[in-house]
Amino acid sequence: MKITYISHMGFMVDFNGTKLLFDPFITGNPKPGPIKSEDLSPDWILASHGHGDHIADVEPIAKRTGAKVISNYEITNWFGAKGVDGHPLNHGGKADFDFGTVKYVNAIHTSGLPDGSYGGNPGGFVIWKDGSCFYFAGDTALTRDMELIPMTCPKLDFAILPIGDNFTMGYEDAVIASDMVQCDVIIGCHYDTFPYIEIDTEKAKKAFADRGKTLLLPALGETIDL
Ligand code: NI
Ligand code: MN
Repeated sequence: MKITYISHMGFMVDFNGTKLLFDPFITGNPKPGPIKSEDLSPDWILASHGHGDHIADVEPIAKRTGAKVISNYEITNWFGAKGVDGHPLNHGGKADFDFGTVKYVNAIHTSGLPDGSYGGNPGGFVIWKDGSCFYFAGDTALTRDMELIPMTCPKLDFAILPIGDNFTMGYEDAVIASDMVQCDVIIGCHYDTFPYIEIDTEKAKKAFADRGKTLLLPALGETIDL
């Protein structure tokens, strides 16, 4: 799998040839990185929750490319009213797509939409097909619900977790989260974009290394192969 870090919690994952875009936040991002919204041509866009730092570029990219949005019911309806098609999920539900299975899993956070609309509850995604599987946590606190993931989904190849603290779990809790989801390869995100979430990345890497795990922190715009 090729995983490109766009910025903040934005990733493009090439999943067996299907391009899955997660939480694009380029417009208004103080550290947007080298990848522009116009550079992205996803097949699907997955939005974890309604906050602007996760959905800012969903509508323009979807309208330009025809990509459909996968998110919770309230958010897909909100985009639907803007003329963007989607597939609604809700917590604990999974659905089969041509590229694989997507399960919408619990997150502890909030999810108001930028115009004040109700965005439902926030979530994360587990995506799998043919022995490949990964977890995209979205914004979340550490929660015991993460222990359900290895009970209900295939073994994870990697997990994308927030590590920036303040608005989500910090890296110390993310180490525990990686234990709960039974995964030793973690891609960190949602850090250093704003002053509130600036962290010491060397300490973060050491916290995972001390637990025998790998914390990958790709540069903005960098692609890694897992
Ligand atoms: Ni958020
Ligand atoms: Mn956020």
